[in-house]
Amino acid sequence: MTRRLAVVTGAGSGIGAAIARELAERGYEVLPTDIDAASAAATAAACGSPGHYRLDVTDAAGVGEVITELTTVHGPMSVFVSNAGVSRMRRFLDISPEELDRTLGVNLRGAFLASQAAARAMVRAGNGGCIVNVASMAGKQGKVPFLADYVASKFGVVGLTQAMAVELAGYGIRVNSVCPGYVATPMQERELAWEAELRGTTPEAVRGLYIADTPLGRVEQPEDVARAVAFLVSDDASFITGESLAVNGGAFMD
Ligand SMILES: NC(=O)c1ccc[n+]([C@@H]2O[C@H](COP(=O)([O-])OP(=O)(O)OC[C@H]3O[C@@H](n4cnc5c(N)ncnc54)[C@H](O)[C@@H]3O)[C@@H](O)[C@H]2O)c1
Repeated sequence: MTRRLAVVTGAGSGIGAAIARELAERGYEVLPTDIDAASAAATAAACGSPGHYRLDVTDAAGVGEVITELTTVHGPMSVFVSNAGVSRMRRFLDISPEELDRTLGVNLRGAFLASQAAARAMVRAGNGGCIVNVASMAGKQGKVPFLADYVASKFGVVGLTQAMAVELAGYGIRVNSVCPGYVATPMQERELAWEAELRGTTPEAVRGLYIADTPLGRVEQPEDVARAVAFLVSDDASFITGESLAVNGGAFMD
């Protein structure tokens, strides 16, 4: 079987770690990357990876250097997943310019820079490839309380995905997004605490709201997202590009 290399950003935790594990189970050599090198190393150990890298998606020069280094050492990449992201729940009226810069800096500018560096490497290698950006259902609807900056960043990721898909199709590179719903990860644990405080209730009650908002009736698991990513990068999706796939148990339908 042909060797297939996959690189995932923000792979030290939650959804990124699950994507790395899922792709490894499906036969990819996976290089987990994260701003937190130790967590990337832990995912690498779980995936039997040939390596891991510290990669901060906000560091424009560093992103290019790391992608060039890892393709030099491990060969061409066939899959790149731009997953790194952050959130902070605040009322729209209270979000500071610094908070806005951080959210847009990681979620939108960071996804742009990382996916751009990956696309450049794929174009250089000349073998095509697949890129998946992890957006959110908050990238398709703004009816998400206390996350206005996050919503703005994720709408940007959905648009970026379409623009990349158009410009990269001629190189045999497909570009898609996944739009998860309420996923049980460390990010969600933080959000449950913030939202409980903002609503004057408990984290458990907020979790109940998430489940009530999800027709399939449970909190989403990182593996639900990971399997959808695996589909998008597979040959079963060979004629799908520019798509932003809802993976949310029906919590938002468009
Ligand atoms: N959890 C959810 O409900 C949910 C829903 C929709 C979309 N998402 C998106 O899924 C992605 C993963 O979220 P998660 O829930 O697994 O969060 P998480 O906080 O559990 O993991 C995020 C990972 O990104 C890393 N990271 C943060 N800043 C970084 C940077 N500058 N450079 C590189 N890595 C960085 C963190 O170290 C961490 O390992 C994010 O893009 C998030 O917006 C999450």
